[in-house]
Amino acid sequence: MTNSRISKFYAKSLAERCAEVARVLDLPETDLRSVLQAGGLDPDTADKMIENVLGTYALPFGLALNFTVNGVDRLIPMVVEEPSVVAAASGAALRVRNSGGFVAETLGNAMTAQIETHGVADPSGAQTRIHAAASDLLAMAAEAVPGLVRRGGGPLALEVRVLGDGYLVVHVQVDCKDAMGANLVNSVAERLGPEVARLAGGTMGLRILTNLCDQRRVRVTCEVRSIDLEDRECPMGGMQVAEGIEAASRFAELDPYRAATHNKGVMNGIDSVVLATGNDCRAVEAGAHAYAARNGSYGALATWRRTETGLTGALELPLSLGIVGGTLRVHPAAQLALKILGVDTASQLAEIAASAGLASNLAALRALATDGIQRGHMALQARSVAAEAGATGSEVEAVVAFIVEAKTIHVAAARAALAKFRCPERS
Ligand code: MEV
Repeated sequence: MTNSRISKFYAKSLAERCAEVARVLDLPETDLRSVLQAGGLDPDTADKMIENVLGTYALPFGLALNFTVNGVDRLIPMVVEEPSVVAAASGAALRVRNSGGFVAETLGNAMTAQIETHGVADPSGAQTRIHAAASDLLAMAAEAVPGLVRRGGGPLALEVRVLGDGYLVVHVQVDCKDAMGANLVNSVAERLGPEVARLAGGTMGLRILTNLCDQRRVRVTCEVRSIDLEDRECPMGGMQVAEGIEAASRFAELDPYRAATHNKGVMNGIDSVVLATGNDCRAVEAGAHAYAARNGSYGALATWRRTETGLTGALELPLSLGIVGGTLRVHPAAQLALKILGVDTASQLAEIAASAGLASNLAALRALATDGIQRGHMALQARSVAAEAGATGSEVEAVVAFIVEAKTIHVAAARAALAKFRCPERS
């Protein structure tokens, strides 16, 4: 079993990190390095993915450590441009680790097809006729996705929603198994469109999935002991930090302006995993924010409360991810990300992504409730400044320590510090 705790991983060189991950996961190191070279996607493959391709556009592929999800240690690949997301998630996962890690469950695995009609003169009669034809409609829907049905998935149930103003929409729930499911659900919707319009006595309208896939949700919770909320650089006690995190959560629960930023912190973790695994982060974002507004005002996706021993957190959101089909067929780095994660099902992937989201939120709220977000950001920014100044290997940490301590986080100061370390006698 993988141990997601790798000591001093951040301090290793890129080559050493790849070697370590290959060793821990028993993967060929050459595969790992060759896949990730040049962004994990060659232009010829990219040319087959979208239109008018000129080349590829790479982003950092990092690894979040220290995660335990449902009792299993996971190394979590993250693709993200923002410094501190990977470090913050790893740090928060370490705090949660001593209390057993993240506990996640999938609440349903169904994507929803929407089949809309309008100009319906008698909505209640239409509703009755559609309900009476439900089993025929579901059989027709199954014919649209024979491969999925063979794999044990397919249409599950049907619901009629009368929207008013002559609009009526039929929802068909489809178990998409390990696929994200957009194509499958859209095939179902298009197959049923004419028959639904005929039964409703309306004009056939849109036939497409909804990204508010609230029948495919993930819920993740965690506990953190108060002692694990403390650290050397923060004078606050663990219970005081827990109080601050609860207050920050309540603020987001009360105020949509704060909730948007709070949820952005959650999505830092989720989107990074979604991107690394070749999934559609626009779909995930659309679903998450629509779900956050499900009660009529926009609210917090993740919430935190104090307990007798520390803190408890919970996050619930719709999450439609796939581990087969789509980009995964062709993108070698997305395939590698799944190998690193070692997941067997799309639900496991969603549970891990949600755990990364809750960890990111914990890290952000802890920083905000203690010494503010900038100190950690500065320390990480100092690393890229040190690298830009030419520091390599162990020089990076030395230069970072120097410019952070001196509060001079810019390239000129980093160059001066580097010169001093290289030739101490000349300075
Ligand atoms: C920055 O990417 C995310 C945060 O703004 C989230 C938050 O404020 O909770 C730090």
